[in-house]
Formats: sequence, structure tokens, C-alpha cells
Amino acid sequence: MNIKVCVGSSCHLKGSYDVIQALKDLLKKYDVEDVVELQASFCLGHCAKGVNVLTDGIAPEKAEKTATTLADGTLLLHNVTKDNAEEVFVKEIYPLIEL
Ligand code: FES
Repeated sequence: MNIKVCVGSSCHLKGSYDVIQALKDLLKKYDVEDVVELQASFCLGHCAKGVNVLTDGIAPEKAEKTATTLADGTLLLHNVTKDNAEEVFVKEIYPLIEL
């Protein structure tokens, strides 16, 4: 599975570097470093809702306000910060990881 954190200028200003660090730590904490690749991404097109994080896991149901289910079924998570990263990871990302 891939996780892409937007490092476009708007998301960068909102702390995407801190989000990447937080997700790196969480991948280690939840022992999924081997099955999840963390990458940086150019602008994901939802700048007002940054920091945005794109997963390539297929969302089982329509996303809530904190995310958008894209046309291909993947999940674009919005407003991710270093402070809510673990909550977002546990609730939205971890269930999509195929172990
Ligand atoms: S800069 Fe992140 S979505 Fe545009």
C-alpha cells in the first residue's frame, strides 16, 4: 500500500513535513513499515483542505467530511496534522492495509 502526503506549497505551509514525520513514526509503532510505502506528492488538488494524504487502499464505504472517496475508490484524507495523525491513521488508514 502507498500513502502519499501532499507537499505542495499550501500543504507544506500547513505542516506536511510534520505529518510525514508523524506517519513515519506510526508506521513503525504499528509495525507496518514493510507493507506501507510513504511518499511525498505534488499538489493533490484540494489545497483548502490540506494537509491532504492520499491512500491507494480502496475505501469500504463513502468517506465522511474528513475525506473524499475518489472516483477510483481510493481515499483522500483532509486536514491531517501532526496532532491528529494517529487518530486518522488508526481510523482511516490502518483498516485499509492488507496484512
Ligand atoms: S498543495 Fe496540497 S492539495 Fe494543493
